[in-house]
Amino acid sequence: MPINDTSRLRERAAAILAENDRGHYTVPTRGLYPFQWNWDSCLTALGLSQLDEARGWLEIETLMAHQWPDGMVPHIVFHVNDEGYFPGPHVWRTGRPTPTSGITQPAVAGFAVRRLFERARDRRLADTSARRLLTKIDRWHQWFFNNRDPDGEGLVAILHPWESGRDNSIDWDEAFERVPTDGIDAYVRRDLQHADASHRPTNAQYDRYLWLLQCFRDLDWDNSRLHAASPFRIVDPGFNAILIRSCQDLAWLADRLGEGDIARRNRNLAERALAAFETLWSETHGQYVCRDRVTGSLIDSASCGGIMSVFAAIPRIRATALARRVETLARNSRHVVASHDPADSRFDSHRYWRGPIWLIVNYMIADGLANAGEADTAGRIRRDSLDLIASGGFAEYYDPHSGEPLGGGSFTWTAAMVLEFLRNND
Ligand code: GLC
Repeated sequence: MPINDTSRLRERAAAILAENDRGHYTVPTRGLYPFQWNWDSCLTALGLSQLDEARGWLEIETLMAHQWPDGMVPHIVFHVNDEGYFPGPHVWRTGRPTPTSGITQPAVAGFAVRRLFERARDRRLADTSARRLLTKIDRWHQWFFNNRDPDGEGLVAILHPWESGRDNSIDWDEAFERVPTDGIDAYVRRDLQHADASHRPTNAQYDRYLWLLQCFRDLDWDNSRLHAASPFRIVDPGFNAILIRSCQDLAWLADRLGEGDIARRNRNLAERALAAFETLWSETHGQYVCRDRVTGSLIDSASCGGIMSVFAAIPRIRATALARRVETLARNSRHVVASHDPADSRFDSHRYWRGPIWLIVNYMIADGLANAGEADTAGRIRRDSLDLIASGGFAEYYDPHSGEPLGGGSFTWTAAMVLEFLRNND
C-alpha cells in the first residue's frame, strides 16, 4: 500500500475501529485483549471522534463510569466474561459491581477530553459531555497526588509495571529484583495463546506481576495502604508527564466551563510537578529517567518513558535536548522512536516494551515536540509512523530495525493514531 494513499489508510483504520467496537467501548484487539483498557480508550476516543463525535465522547464516559469511590480509574474494565484473558476478574477480586482491575494507567483522559472539546462541531454535546467528565477527571487527578505522592514531592509513583502502560520495560528490571515470587497462586498465562512468546514478557516477570497483584489484594485494594506496602515504587517521567499535561488541559477546560476551583487546583498540581520534574534529568543519558522511590536513586535506563516527558510543558532547553535524543535514536535504528535505546545491551527489538516502536508513544512525543517548536523531528516521527503502517499494517508494535509488525494485529489505538497523524497533516 503506497504511503501517499491516505484514503485507503483512513478506510482501513476506520474498519479496525468498527471491528473492535463493542457499542459503548472498544477492545484493544480481539482475542488478546477482550475488555476495555484505560489509556487505550482515551487515545482511541480521538480517532473515534473523527468518525462520530458522540461515539468519541461515549468511549471516555464509559470508562469514567467505572471510577472507584476513592477517585481511582482502573486500568481494565471487565464488561463481559472472557476466559481467554489472564488475570481476569476472579484473580483481581476488587469487588466492583462491574468487575475491574485494581490498579490504574497513565492519566491521558484530561488531554483527550480537551482535544475532543476543542474540535467539536456539536457544541451542545461537547459542553454537556465535558462538564460531566470534568469533575470525574479532577477527582482522579487528586487521587493520584493523595495516594501516590504521600510525602508531597510533587510527582506520583506507579506501584505496578502495568500501571505505566509499558509493562516489561527495562526501566523496571532492577526494582523488580526486590519483588518476591513466593506464595503466588498457580496460574496459566493466556497471552501466549494469542501472541509469540518471544514478543511478550517472560514468565519470571509474570510471577512478579502476580505477586504485586496478590499483595495489593491482601490489603483489600485499600489505596491508602498500597504505596507504603509495595516494594515497587517508581517515579516514571513518561507517566508523570502525561498526568501533568492532563492537569494543564483540564485546567484549560475548567476555565472555559467556568469551574474556577478545578482550574486552579489542576494548574497548581501541574506547576508543582513540573518544578519537581527536573530531579529526573540524567546528564549521562541526555534525557529524563525514572527514579526508584524505594532507594531514591535514578535508574540507569534510557527508555521512551523519558522522551515522552516532552508531552508536558518542560523547559525549552530540555525539549530541544529530547529532540536531539530522538535524532540519535534515529541513527541507531531504521525507524523511530524505539521504546528503548538500541545502543543499550539490554535492548531487544522484538520484545514488547524493551525495544519495539509503539504508535501511541510516537504520537505523544511528536505532539510534545511540535508544541516545543521542534517541527522537523516531530515530522520525522510522523512520517516513520505512517511508513510502518503502510508496510506492516495496524499492529500492536513494530521492530525498529526491520519494521516487522509484532504482537497483536488489527490494533485499535494504532488505528486511532493513524487517523490522528493523518488529520494533523491536513
Ligand atoms: C499491554 C500494554 C498496555 C495496553 C494494553 C492493552 O498491556 O502494555 O499499555 O494498555 O496492552 O492494549
